[in-house]
Amino acid sequence: MTCGFQMPALFILIALSFPVLIHGWGVDGHYIVCKIAQDRLSTAASDAVNDLLPSYANNNLSSLCSWADHVKFRYRWSSPLHYINTPDNLCNYNYQRDCKDDNGVAGRCVSGAITNYTDQLLTYKNSSSGSQYNLTEALLFLAHFVGDIHQPLHVGFTSDEGGNTIEVHWYTRKANLHHVWDDSIIQTAEENFYNTSVEEFADTIKKNITGEWSEKVTKWETCSKNETICPDVYASESITAACDWAYKGVTEGSTLEDEYFHSRVPVVNLSA
Ligand SMILES: *[C@@H]1O[C@H](CO)[C@@H](O)[C@H](O)[C@H]1NC(C)=O
Ligand SMILES: *[C@@H]1O[C@H](CO)[C@@H](O)[C@H](O)[C@H]1NC(C)=O
Ligand SMILES: *[C@@H]1O[C@H](CO)[C@@H](O)[C@H](O)[C@H]1NC(C)=O
Ligand SMILES: *[C@@H]1O[C@H](CO)[C@@H](O)[C@H](O)[C@H]1NC(C)=O
Ligand SMILES: *[C@@H]1O[C@H](CO)[C@@H](O)[C@H](O)[C@H]1NC(C)=O
Ligand SMILES: *[C@@H]1O[C@H](CO)[C@@H](O)[C@H](O)[C@H]1NC(C)=O
Ligand SMILES: *[C@@H]1O[C@H](CO)[C@@H](O)[C@H](O)[C@H]1NC(C)=O
Repeated sequence: MTCGFQMPALFILIALSFPVLIHGWGVDGHYIVCKIAQDRLSTAASDAVNDLLPSYANNNLSSLCSWADHVKFRYRWSSPLHYINTPDNLCNYNYQRDCKDDNGVAGRCVSGAITNYTDQLLTYKNSSSGSQYNLTEALLFLAHFVGDIHQPLHVGFTSDEGGNTIEVHWYTRKANLHHVWDDSIIQTAEENFYNTSVEEFADTIKKNITGEWSEKVTKWETCSKNETICPDVYASESITAACDWAYKGVTEGSTLEDEYFHSRVPVVNLSA
């Protein structure tokens, strides 16, 4: 197995491990995905990651896992690559129909981007001959987008922009539904449920991957081991989870608290 291939495989594996919780996909969610992924890399893949990371990252992939969010404005072209809009209330995803940007340009969605940056990283082994791509950026985009595609509301309905326009209360605070899934659930889990720091939280999840969940993890690896990444499968899983869990029972102005939180967090423990 080449290291170029194994890197994407691992991110996908890791992100897949958390049907709901890791979805955090605010800073903490991305941090956790990248930390666990980097800890599990083979030596060859790890060397490649260290080689591609800028020196100021000190070989720490997590520290740059939100880079793609930070460059959204500098690289305006990249902002449609973080999500997929699907038709309202259909609760399914279709690449041909949905993977495009607002101008209708095909492939410009998070699924297309994962394929794009995986393909670029596959040229890593040839990079001594000079890759035509910036593989540092490819790595940082891929690590981030694999997190995003597993956040159910990053594959959401068009008219509410994946929950962004649905204003709710998360306990006593105002938030929109998208933000609840990007950040609030995971933060509440860390603070109130597991009462732990993001580092410890990542370690707990890591232990579950090698222990309790190892059988399922092997199954998740299959898609990627076949040298086939399957972002469209992840996108379909996300919109299903969005309908079954994220949108369900929520309307404009809803107050979401313990009942919503407790019923969504366990989905973490592997519903998929
Ligand atoms: C990696 O970076 C993150 C975020 O900047 C930091 O919290 C963490 O302590 C760093 N890890 C190591 C091993 O330096
Ligand atoms: C693929 O990557 C290149 C280089 O970053 C970028 O210009 C292009 O927009 C990307 N396309 C997609 C669909 O991700
Ligand atoms: C690697 O580079 C060589 C020569 O530049 C080219 O023939 C080959 O197709 C490349 N391999 C891959 C996997 O891109
Ligand atoms: C690749 O991208 C990184 C991050 O944007 C940047 O710092 C670096 O200068 C780029 N490398 C080249 C060769 O352009
Ligand atoms: C969380 O843990 C800290 C120490 O690790 C402790 O001081 C605090 O009381 C705990 N909070 C709750 C709500 O259990
Ligand atoms: C790890 O697995 C145990 C047992 O299924 C579960 O109780 C715990 O919540 C899991 N931890 C995390 C962070 O998912
Ligand atoms: C997975 O690999 C097997 C054996 O190499 C092959 O027959 C099958 O077509 C592959 N599946 C996909 C989706 O590529």
